[in-house]
Amino acid sequence: MIVYLNGDFVEKEKALISVDDRAFLFADGVYEVIRCYDGRPFRLDEHLRRLEQSVRAVRIEFSDFGTIGDVAKRLIAENRLTSGDALIYVEITRGSAPRVHTFPPRGTKPNVYVAGMEFQPKRNQLENGISVILVPDIRWSRCDIKSVGLLPNVLMAQRALDVGADDAIFIRDGVAVEGTASNFFGVFGGVVTTHPKSNYTLAGITRDVVLELCHKIGIATQEAPILESQLPDAEELFATSTTMEITPVVKVNGIVVGNGTPGPITRQIQKAFWELVRSS
Ligand code: PDD
Repeated sequence: MIVYLNGDFVEKEKALISVDDRAFLFADGVYEVIRCYDGRPFRLDEHLRRLEQSVRAVRIEFSDFGTIGDVAKRLIAENRLTSGDALIYVEITRGSAPRVHTFPPRGTKPNVYVAGMEFQPKRNQLENGISVILVPDIRWSRCDIKSVGLLPNVLMAQRALDVGADDAIFIRDGVAVEGTASNFFGVFGGVVTTHPKSNYTLAGITRDVVLELCHKIGIATQEAPILESQLPDAEELFATSTTMEITPVVKVNGIVVGNGTPGPITRQIQKAFWELVRSS
């Protein structure tokens, strides 16, 4: 597999960075995950815009976002990812420098890594839904930055697996904010509801697509906090992300949602999403 590292296209095994890399030492870096359908990156511009926002928010000195798009396209071609499902992973770190907490000397170059890889969607989960547990949101208060500092997400995703669930939803101050790697939606009185964009959630690209699709097909939406106490009243729940697309949530802390199968509004949104993917 060919990957891109700091200006070069090299075999993945030969893509090496220093142990002084700031992301290795401090999780001082940001990332993006972009889905490709039959070689076409989905919502590439939106992902690059969010990458730029993350880079700016953490003050990494990098501005060549156009290059990332071109690199992604070349990696798709060189790695023969032109049919089926694939992912592009992008990581930009503050570069390699001796370990001090403050920024490295001016002129230290960021490390820029881009890889393309085959991807197997979890078709069973898309079809039948997942079970989730509710966990305390132990993350920081800048969840809008797509930081590689994902330890709380890793720990909670694993906690879910350890208790036989598929994923975890973070609860902050009584509000179900988002999943470990997804945005979270509920249907209440027929209204598709998701947390407003804020510093406590990532502004998901798939989330925006879902809201757009709802407007197009005439499903009411609201961007409002979903309280933990409201969850038993949810008619439907689902999670969205680049990798999960629109995944129904059919069980919360062992209690079934609705009749325990993916609901009709979730199905309608899934269908509209896949039609959009096919036509874009
Ligand atoms: N994660 N919230 C969090 C915490 C996420 O990590 C993600 C995506 C999302 C959904 O964003 P989007 O729709 O733009 O993929 C929400 C990626 C897929 C990951 O970390 O692998």
